[in-house]
Amino acid sequence: MSVNDDFPMIRPVPYMGVIWVVHEASKLGFWNGHPDWCNLGQGQPEVGDMEGAPPRIKSVTMKDADQAYGPLGGSDEMREIIASTYNRLYRRGMKSQYTAKNISFAGGGRLALTRLFATFADGSRVLYKSPDYTAYEDYLAYHKARLTLVPVMTREEDGFSLPPDALEACIRRQNINAYVFSNPCNPTGEAVMGKDLERYVESARENKCLLGCDEFYSHFIYNEDGSPASGPVSAAAYVEDVNKDPVLLVDGLTKSHRYPGWRAGWIAGPEHVIEMVNRAASALDGGPSLIVQRAAMEALDPERYHQETTAMRRGFAKKRRLMLERLKAMGITPAAEPRGTFYIWATIRDLPAPLNDGDAFFHACLQEKVMTVPGRFFDVRPLGVRDIDEPFGSWVRFSYGPPEAVVETGLSRIEKVIAQAR
Ligand SMILES: Cc1ncc(COP(=O)(O)O)c(C=O)c1O
Repeated sequence: MSVNDDFPMIRPVPYMGVIWVVHEASKLGFWNGHPDWCNLGQGQPEVGDMEGAPPRIKSVTMKDADQAYGPLGGSDEMREIIASTYNRLYRRGMKSQYTAKNISFAGGGRLALTRLFATFADGSRVLYKSPDYTAYEDYLAYHKARLTLVPVMTREEDGFSLPPDALEACIRRQNINAYVFSNPCNPTGEAVMGKDLERYVESARENKCLLGCDEFYSHFIYNEDGSPASGPVSAAAYVEDVNKDPVLLVDGLTKSHRYPGWRAGWIAGPEHVIEMVNRAASALDGGPSLIVQRAAMEALDPERYHQETTAMRRGFAKKRRLMLERLKAMGITPAAEPRGTFYIWATIRDLPAPLNDGDAFFHACLQEKVMTVPGRFFDVRPLGVRDIDEPFGSWVRFSYGPPEAVVETGLSRIEKVIAQAR
């Protein structure tokens, strides 16, 4: 008898891509921080000191009131700091400004997203795209009995992004009520920005379609020539009335401030929606930790914020260039020169068989202690079905989240795997 027979009331919860990768690698001796392994599958940025960045925050001083339950959406002080960060970065000179009431603080981005999905009204038609962030699959699946889930496949020739016209057509033709997507996108690194992002926001406003912009990589932005951009990207810049436009921004300290272990995330949006998100938090999680909020307040100090994100972009732009060049030299072709994140989404279809298959490639690299993520994990399938062939079977997500030396070693080992197969 298998464990499944003993517990028929428990569903086989699917692995998220990175968790499966770690699980497979651990069978060969991997553990987090193992010095011999190169985790180019990882979804986190390097968390240590970086050139030009302020010292890492390592302690926090609590106040007496922090021992009690805190507010469900975060303390007023915390929410005010996040609101003013949005106003400073994206809304200078605009009449409509975010306030504490526009912010819901949560224990990490995934919890913020969980709260958001819980607020969608029964019968809502929710659009999602492939490829996109693996966790959406499960969020959508939780609600499949009460929401209508509408998939849209992006095209390789569009860099796996959804052009504004295509989004507008989807919303209108399929009566979409909400669209949740990562921008910049995990796994493709593509970023909808400038005029295109403005048109996304216009479509949302005109069609009363809620735009859930998961902006966890908002600060990982590079110019067309690969140099670090001068600042972040957010749909917040195109919102007209913060309380009327149906635009929600999800972000946190996990990626852009390199504190994934803190579990600090938030949603910014219209007061009414935020109020409902916070009510959902009451049953889901009981509100965020006050210790984390104390630390987050320090991380969001404007001077530190600027120093950290500027240094981070500079360091990551260097790793991006390195990885792009070396992958191309190996015959691995990136979908595009990604303008965001710390991922490169590339096809291995020109490699000699069997390395031209994402899983075979993954297992071959694993033998050399290098981790990657097979593309199939990013095909968001909340309904558990895919009626066409595996669309991303020859695609792989490579991460340059680890320190530069690890990225270099990992790439050299992949080179070796390919050379042996030729
Ligand atoms: C697109 C996207 N959104 C949200 C998150 C959530 O981050 P966390 O829950 O670790 O704060 C991630 C992390 O991988 C992500 O890639």
